[in-house]
Amino acid sequence: MPAKVRKAVFPAAGLGTRFLPATKAQPKEMLPLVDKPIIQYGVEEAIRSGIQNIIIITGRGKSAIEDHFDVSFELENMLECRGKKDLLEVVRNVSDMINVCYLRQKEALGLGHAVLRARELVGNEPFATVLADDVIDSDTPCLKQLLEVYEFFAAPVLAVMEVPRESISSYGVVDAEPVSHNGSRDRLFRIRDMVEKPGAETAPSNLAIIGRYVLTPEIFDSITEVQPGRGGEIQLTDALKHLLRTRAIYAYRFEGRRYDAGDKLGFLQATVEFALKRDDLGDAFREYLKTLPL
Ligand code: G1P
Repeated sequence: MPAKVRKAVFPAAGLGTRFLPATKAQPKEMLPLVDKPIIQYGVEEAIRSGIQNIIIITGRGKSAIEDHFDVSFELENMLECRGKKDLLEVVRNVSDMINVCYLRQKEALGLGHAVLRARELVGNEPFATVLADDVIDSDTPCLKQLLEVYEFFAAPVLAVMEVPRESISSYGVVDAEPVSHNGSRDRLFRIRDMVEKPGAETAPSNLAIIGRYVLTPEIFDSITEVQPGRGGEIQLTDALKHLLRTRAIYAYRFEGRRYDAGDKLGFLQATVEFALKRDDLGDAFREYLKTLPL
């Protein structure tokens, strides 16, 4: 059995310029989808996948994330006094759920650089990386799907999905060959090569990397070996490509619906679809939508 994955790294130092002015004084990870901040969806996915140790890579202006996952004594006290048990549980759950630590990424030098910050805390063990902008709604959490592959092959695994050619240049893209697994040949791939944000004409496939990774600790050395790549940043994709020279890496086409909550349209889609699924809101919201002159 390969070593158990116990820790998940959440890079969250990005400036969130796509959501200005909302993100001028508030981290984009705290923008709510209905009533839960984006980052909490990722944290809950990690928990449902059996991971409780969360390492969040933050930066300037991100203290609301730390407050969110902390105990709020005044708020809990007030809810208790007013007998609001349901809300109290909602608020307590957030702080009870995880062991969390925060690291600062002082300069925004790229995703690879952010992950490298976690080296000391992760130590010599496998770990997950979650990009909270990618919100994934699925019966089996996406990270859990990757962990099953990791446990079988004892190798790093990345989440991928097929995307239309016209948007491929927004992603890391893999060149990969299908591998039989659990009786199917269309979910698991062994990666031959990968490239960060290629042009549509040169992209090796339409399989885009989505922000869920199960990584092994060799990735840290690889990150230190690569030069700044796309956008002048230290890219995780480049470090993974470097690691391919010495070990097999897999891509898994996960089951589930992914929303790009870092993009305005994706954020709205997630908001609408999550609201429609809610027991307490769905019916009323559906009725409201029907009244719109669309
Ligand atoms: C990052 C990764 C990219 C991946 C994407 C998924 O890019 O660098 O390989 O495809 O996340 O969301 P970003 O969107 O942070 O520019």
